[in-house]
Amino acid sequence: MQLKAITALALLVEHGVAQGMMRFSCSQLVIDRIDPLVNPASIPSPHLHQIVGGNSFNASMDPATHDLPSESTCTSCTFAEDFSNYWTAVLYFQARNGTFKRVNQFVSQGLKANGGITVYYIPPYDGKTKVTAFKPGFRMLVGDAALRSKSKDPKVCHRCMPKTGDNPNIECSSPDTQSLPKTPCPGGIRTVITFPTCWDGKNTDSPDHESHVAYPASGTFDSGGPCPATHPVKIPQVMYEVMWDTRPFNDEALWPTDGSQPFRWSNNDNTGYSNHGDYVFGWKGDSLQRALDAKCRGAVCSQLKMQTSQEAMKCTIQQSFREDIDGWVEKIPGMDMDP
Ligand SMILES: *[C@@H]1O[C@H](CO)[C@@H](O)[C@H](O)[C@H]1NC(C)=O
Ligand SMILES: *[C@@H]1O[C@H](CO)[C@@H](O)[C@H](O)[C@H]1NC(C)=O
Repeated sequence: MQLKAITALALLVEHGVAQGMMRFSCSQLVIDRIDPLVNPASIPSPHLHQIVGGNSFNASMDPATHDLPSESTCTSCTFAEDFSNYWTAVLYFQARNGTFKRVNQFVSQGLKANGGITVYYIPPYDGKTKVTAFKPGFRMLVGDAALRSKSKDPKVCHRCMPKTGDNPNIECSSPDTQSLPKTPCPGGIRTVITFPTCWDGKNTDSPDHESHVAYPASGTFDSGGPCPATHPVKIPQVMYEVMWDTRPFNDEALWPTDGSQPFRWSNNDNTGYSNHGDYVFGWKGDSLQRALDAKCRGAVCSQLKMQTSQEAMKCTIQQSFREDIDGWVEKIPGMDMDP
């Protein structure tokens, strides 16, 4: 569990302070049915994702040849040297008549963006322990698109947001849930996805895209919990925060009559347990390491090149698999391809 990290996230949002925690917005690059990690070269992949970051993103991204910083000409993140790609599943609303509508994302408190993801790179809180930035070709994922039940040690949670403000007590326990919230949320639904913080020091990827990284052997990352011997290298904690604008769907007259909730992940899951986050590292040169060493905090860092949110929002790409993602649809794209 990453209790302190997530509590600190809330404190950061509320008070604008934290120990060297980078937090910045990445606007929507594209919403597309491709997944270079799990289904490389498949157009379409089984389900829709919302993707942010460098514009070299595509369905194949062979790690041996695809160099994100040199292939990209822009990024949708406000740190202009970050050509990484970050993506998650997409949320849908199902109306009483059975048809579906995609839920937009909205920007998180204190930032400017067009949808997308708020990205965090979190160093250990002692302010001393060195973390090693990822190597070119590094990728990983968290969560499981096939999961339909609670996990013991959740890394993906939802929060039913109040109309304004926030409660700093978010730690994948009450009021956060692994399932999707059961009642309309006045301030939308927030998803938090927390990545592992220990690396085997050798492999930039693994067949399941998870085994080359691990969570601390004991304790928590930020309390200095040691990495397991198999994964001795401390890496920064990557965390995604996604704000889903469910507010247009809060009228309970639109909700199912049987008392269930109407939202469903694009991988055809209405429990909520299956949301997932994917990461392909693409910072230019040693820029991420410099930012980590300088303990940059928030969305401003003198070690890094910045661009305005307006510039970041201009970085978008066309869907590889053209299909309707904005209208009311009878089926979620790819719905028949997922369990
Ligand atoms: C992805 O981009 C690389 C590098 O630009 C290119 O060689 C490859 O053909 C592209 N793949 C797809 C599926 O577009
Ligand atoms: C289904 O319901 C939604 C929400 O009320 C409405 O906007 C949509 O047009 C309806 N679709 C059909 C096919 O009736």
